[in-house]
Amino acid sequence: MDIKPLITAEQIDDKLREIGRQISEDYAGKEVLLVGVLRGAFMVMADLARHIDLPCEFDFMAVSSYGASTQTSGVVRILKDLDEEIEGRHVIIVEDIIDSGLTLNYLMKSLRVRRPESLEIATLLLKEGIQRVPIDVKYTAFKIGPEFVVGYGLDYAGKYRNLPYVGVMGVES
Ligand code: IMP
Ligand code: MG
Repeated sequence: MDIKPLITAEQIDDKLREIGRQISEDYAGKEVLLVGVLRGAFMVMADLARHIDLPCEFDFMAVSSYGASTQTSGVVRILKDLDEEIEGRHVIIVEDIIDSGLTLNYLMKSLRVRRPESLEIATLLLKEGIQRVPIDVKYTAFKIGPEFVVGYGLDYAGKYRNLPYVGVMGVES
C-alpha cells in the first residue's frame, strides 16, 4: 500500500510548539490534566506535553474505534476509563483526529457529568466539515479533507502508527 506524505514531522513539531505555548498562556497559574484518547493520541500527547510549561498530570482513556474498517460505526464503547477523578480540575482531552465527531461527542458528555472545572479539546487533525454532531474544539493543529490518513499515532488495521509524519493511504494497486 502506498502512503503519500501530507503533513511533515517538522510541520507537526512547529504546530505543537505553538499550541503548547497557547495552552501554557491560557491556563497560566493553573494545573492541567491531559487526557489522551488511546491508542491514536499517544504520540501527539507525548510531543504536545513537552511544549506545555505548566504543572501537568496525565491520564488515558481507551474507546472502541473502527476495527479494520475505515468507516465509522457510530458505536462508541469505553474500553478503559480514567484512573483520575476530574471533579474541579482543568481537563484537556488530547485526540489524534476528529472525523464524524461521534467519539468525542460521547466522551465529552460522559466527562462533563463528572464536573470538571473546565473541559476542552486539543486535536492534531480535524476533518473539516464532516462532523455529524457539533463539536467545540479549542485547539486544532491541522484541518484536513475527508481522506483517510495514517501515521503519527494514526493506524490502518493497527499498522503505520509509528510513521513520524501524517500521510494519505493510497489506493491498493
Ligand atoms: P470519529 O468518532 O468519527 O470522530 O472518529 C474517531 C476515531 O476514528 C479517531 O479517533 C480515529 O481513531 C479514527 N479515525 C477517523 N478518521 C481516521 C483516519 O483518517 N485515519 C485513522 N483513523 C481515523
Ligand atoms: Mg482516536
